[in-house]
Amino acid sequence: MGRFDGKVALVTGANRGIGQATAVRLATEGAVVAVNHRPTGNPDETLKQIETAGGKAFPVVADMRDPDMVKAMVKDVSRLGGRLDYLVSNAAINPLKKWTDITLEDYNQIQEINLRGTWVVVTESAKQMIAEGHGGAIVCVSSISAWVGAKEQTVYCATKAGIWMMVKSLATVFGEHNIRINCLLPGAILTDMSKELLDPASPARKYYEERTPLGRIAAPSECAGPIAFLLSDDASYITSSELLVDGGFITNAE
Ligand SMILES: NC(=O)c1ccc[n+]([C@@H]2O[C@H](COP(=O)([O-])OP(=O)(O)OC[C@H]3O[C@@H](n4cnc5c(N)ncnc54)[C@H](OP(=O)(O)O)[C@@H]3O)[C@@H](O)[C@H]2O)c1
Repeated sequence: MGRFDGKVALVTGANRGIGQATAVRLATEGAVVAVNHRPTGNPDETLKQIETAGGKAFPVVADMRDPDMVKAMVKDVSRLGGRLDYLVSNAAINPLKKWTDITLEDYNQIQEINLRGTWVVVTESAKQMIAEGHGGAIVCVSSISAWVGAKEQTVYCATKAGIWMMVKSLATVFGEHNIRINCLLPGAILTDMSKELLDPASPARKYYEERTPLGRIAAPSECAGPIAFLLSDDASYITSSELLVDGGFITNAE
């Protein structure tokens, strides 16, 4: 018996990286997982991994930059899965660019996917959970970039800090509906998003490994476990919190 048996979870940006690892973890523990992907994305690898692990899942399409698509997706999850208990708002972009090269179009794209997209999927999911009348739990994936600046990630950092405070604000109004909402702040996790920065030959990789007390970067599965914990009943009195998953990087300033 899994701790998420009978529950339905939506994971955004679940076709690769941390979203994929989380979708597989939740399904392995019994949840039926709605695997979100963009219209241009392919959910097959995630669906295959879940099937191999003996879990259940179905794909749901939406571009997080398109509020109407996101609203329709949340309805689809509940219609196809029968209910909606958990949301992991994970999808984001992080194009590395100098601040002087960032256009307004760049700014809008990063903000609209990362921050507005989080607002839309979180609030629509909460409305759905309230309508279904059973409470729920939400985890938003922020970043250590909510806490520290980075030269080529200026707008990204701002969106991640926005997500962090959005979680705290929404916790104050979701509580009465028995919906918990928390935030994950990952550090250096090896995925497609970070592979340029964390390339073994890059000075940034050496910097992250040396500053991190645990002495290494992490795998996406090392975020999936903490996310599963925050969704689970083991975290039943935890809301509005942030969980750092950074190997100690932030605290080790020199
Ligand atoms: N990797 C790290 O070191 C690190 C550190 C701190 C925080 N994070 C956070 O962790 C989360 C996952 O990142 P990751 O490292 O797993 O990155 P990733 O491998 O690049 O995955 C990002 C996911 O988001 C999806 N996505 C991007 N734009 C989207 C949109 N408009 N609509 C729907 N989905 C969209 C991507 O879909 P496509 O495949 O279609 O692009 C992909 O599935 C992000 O919130 C990121 O900010 C990562």
